[in-house]
Amino acid sequence: MLIIKNGTVVNVDQQITNCDIKIEKGKIVEVGQNLKSQGHREIDATACMVYPGGIDPHVHLHLEVSGTASSDDFETGSLAALSGGTTSLIDFVTPNRGQSMLDALFKREKQVKNCRTSLRFHMGVTSWNDKSFDEMKACMQKGIMSFKTFFAYLQTIGIGDREFLKALKASKELGALITLHAENGELVEYRRELLKNEGKLSPRFHPLSRPSEVEDEAAARAMLMAEAVGCPLYIVHTSSAGVIEVAQKFRARGNKVFIETCPQYLFLDDSVYEQDFIESAAFVMSPPIRPKGHQEKLIEAMGQGLIDTVGTDHCPFSAAQKKVGENDFTIIPNGAGGIEHRLLLLHSELVQTGKITPKQFVAQTSYNTAQIFKWKGKGELRPGFDADIVVVDPQVKTIITAQTQMQKNDQSIFEGKVLNAQVRTVILNGEVV
Ligand code: URP
Ligand code: ZN
Ligand code: ZN
Repeated sequence: MLIIKNGTVVNVDQQITNCDIKIEKGKIVEVGQNLKSQGHREIDATACMVYPGGIDPHVHLHLEVSGTASSDDFETGSLAALSGGTTSLIDFVTPNRGQSMLDALFKREKQVKNCRTSLRFHMGVTSWNDKSFDEMKACMQKGIMSFKTFFAYLQTIGIGDREFLKALKASKELGALITLHAENGELVEYRRELLKNEGKLSPRFHPLSRPSEVEDEAAARAMLMAEAVGCPLYIVHTSSAGVIEVAQKFRARGNKVFIETCPQYLFLDDSVYEQDFIESAAFVMSPPIRPKGHQEKLIEAMGQGLIDTVGTDHCPFSAAQKKVGENDFTIIPNGAGGIEHRLLLLHSELVQTGKITPKQFVAQTSYNTAQIFKWKGKGELRPGFDADIVVVDPQVKTIITAQTQMQKNDQSIFEGKVLNAQVRTVILNGEVV
């Protein structure tokens, strides 16, 4: 039994100052001013903001790639998430081509040990055969509502237009949602080959191998196919401002298009690649960090409510793991860490600078994800909802550094960044964690 006293409680549609939240048996039982404590443990949230616990719609804990795995497992990654106020995660099951989805799910579930947050999965559609429809249906019976596709990574898990259309049609029939990593895989392979032939193999050439046009085209093609089928589409980790323009065009024609971005695409520009190997390799992720200009437009889109969700694409690798690509950027394991700092980065850089409102912060960090992926009981501070809550103190600073972060990564892509807020208290299922 807990009571959070005197905070500014924010939901997607309301913000109440000097407000209390009463919690019993893991659920919120009352929200309002001057609530009476009846033996509840009191948490003083005076001068603090109180938000629904964050839901990160895009993480890769223990992702096995090219003989190694991302450095955070389910225990370390979920603890880092909690420390940053994120109480729910959506990770991925990625079947090998031709592998049954249920078999892949069974194996993935075995990798989940000591996960401290709530957890769900998106299921990958990495090929299409005559069993795929039934497998999607079986996954949905197990609570998986969304299916991830890739236009990139054609040599391993990427799919072509024909398979994508089949997945879209199935999703329409089943009431599922298709999500997409939007990069034109053929063009990426072509550009990589050209760069390789010219001996351009350091990380600074990574962004040139997959420029924003490659992302814009893939997103537009996918939206056109979703429009033809008549189903919604969710684009993951949007880094290019062009995708927002394309999405607006399709939305104006009555299509449902959801856009996710990540903090690295809002707050970093491609000058990060102008460093020595080990520093720049930390930023090798796909899509890459974009040239100056994209960030401002994405942030503007956040303020206009044109971006639905912010995930992290948390997929850290140590400097030693990245080193395999010292002489060839194309074999550097792709990805970076971010699970711990998503909420504070957005709060400090966007809410506290007036670029988004606290209500929009709730929408983009928890509520919309709960709605889009049908995660009941999450993303709202109202009676009957899960008591997953984060108390943010905007008076205290936080400095991001690899030395003190909880996420298991010896580098941080936000190293040295000073944030004008701190996560004060995190509550998961009614327990202070
Ligand atoms: O570089 C990235 N983003 N690695 C993780 C896998 C993905 O594409 O989301
Ligand atoms: Zn991706
Ligand atoms: Zn990802």
